[in-house]
Parts: sequence; C-alpha cells; structure tokens
Amino acid sequence: MAAAVVPALRCSLLQRWPYRCGPGVRAVPGAGAALRPCSSRVAQDGINQPVIDRIIRVDHAGEYGANRIYAGQMAVLGRSSVGPVIQQMWNQEKNHLKKFNELMVAYRVRPTVLLPFWNVAGFVLGAGSALLGKKGAMACTVAVEESISEHYNNQIRTLIEEDPEKYKELLQVIKQFRDEEQEHHDIGLEHDAEATPAYSVLKTAIQLGCKAAIFLSERI
Ligand SMILES: [Fe+2]
Ligand SMILES: [Fe+2]
Repeated sequence: MAAAVVPALRCSLLQRWPYRCGPGVRAVPGAGAALRPCSSRVAQDGINQPVIDRIIRVDHAGEYGANRIYAGQMAVLGRSSVGPVIQQMWNQEKNHLKKFNELMVAYRVRPTVLLPFWNVAGFVLGAGSALLGKKGAMACTVAVEESISEHYNNQIRTLIEEDPEKYKELLQVIKQFRDEEQEHHDIGLEHDAEATPAYSVLKTAIQLGCKAAIFLSERI
C-alpha cells in the first residue's frame, strides 16, 4: 500500500505535467490526481524514452535558464549600447524555449522540478553579471554559451550513436540551436568579454554552475 502511495505522491507533487510521470507511474490526462501504473518507461514507437526524456528535459531547462539570464541582463543594460545586441540574442532564446516546449508535449516529457530555481538563479546571474558592466555581461554570455554549445555537441553524438534516422528532427533542432549558441558565444567575445576583470575566474565559476545545472536537470 505504502509502496503504491509514495510514487503516486511523488508524481502529483513533483510532476504537474499531464503526461508521463516517474518510474512505474503514469498520470491520466483529465483525471486530476488519478494515477495508474505504467507498464514501462521505455519505448514509444521504438524511441529510447529514457534518453529522450533526459535530453529534452535538460535542454528545456537550459533554454529556460538562458531566457532568464538575458532577462536579467536586459533589466540592467537594456537601455545601454549593448541593449539591442542582448535583445537579439534573447529573441533567439525565446524561439529555442518555444521549440522545446513543443518537443516536451510531442515526446511526452515532463519539465525538471528545478524550473522555479532556474527562474531565480538565471535572472540573478544575468543581472549580477550585467552589474559588472557590459564586458561582465558578455563574459557571462561567453561562459554560458560555450557550455551550452559543448552540451549540445555531446547530445548530437549521443543521438547519432542511437539512430540518426530515427532522431532526425531532434538532431536538426539541436544542431541549429548549437550553431546559434555558438554565434552568441562569438558575439560575447566580439564585445570584449575577455577584458572583464578576473575573466577566467568568472568564466570557470559560471561554467561549473552550468555543469551542475545540466547534471541536476537531466535527472530531476
Ligand atoms: Fe538557446
Ligand atoms: Fe544562446
């Protein structure tokens, strides 16, 4: 009895998403808190669901966080000379997030439970780096976008190893976004990111944070 209640609670508390839930539990759309056991987490039309879950969940979290970072930077530097540049990158991040919202529904993946935390942490990082000045904001952009590009490259390798034909659409999306993140990284460098005081310390600290965020968002 208790064994059945615990995953049910976990599902209803942590995963307010109208599709799949944690291992062994499935929410019934339109049935409120009603739950029924899943037969398996794996395989919908031959898809490796655990791998896809991890990829889409973390990418959605990353794009969500990126949006919050640029929102924070715009709050501080929106009216400065780099405002339009930051806005342009933010607009692309909005498209990235929109696409991952669509993919979550299509592949029936729930978001990470950490979204409320990334909401605050992303904005604080964006605003905090912008308070260091334009170069500080760009240093943050370089650090984050380099991490995201690398992360997308790892996912591209994983999906190609899995089945490039089966995951053609997802690969196309991730490759396009990887290229755009790389462009953001280059824009940061072009705007003197490396001239920020303590650039390498700042970059290392932000990238450690990104690694931790990726690790956690893939899993919970
Ligand atoms: Fe993005
Ligand atoms: Fe980006």
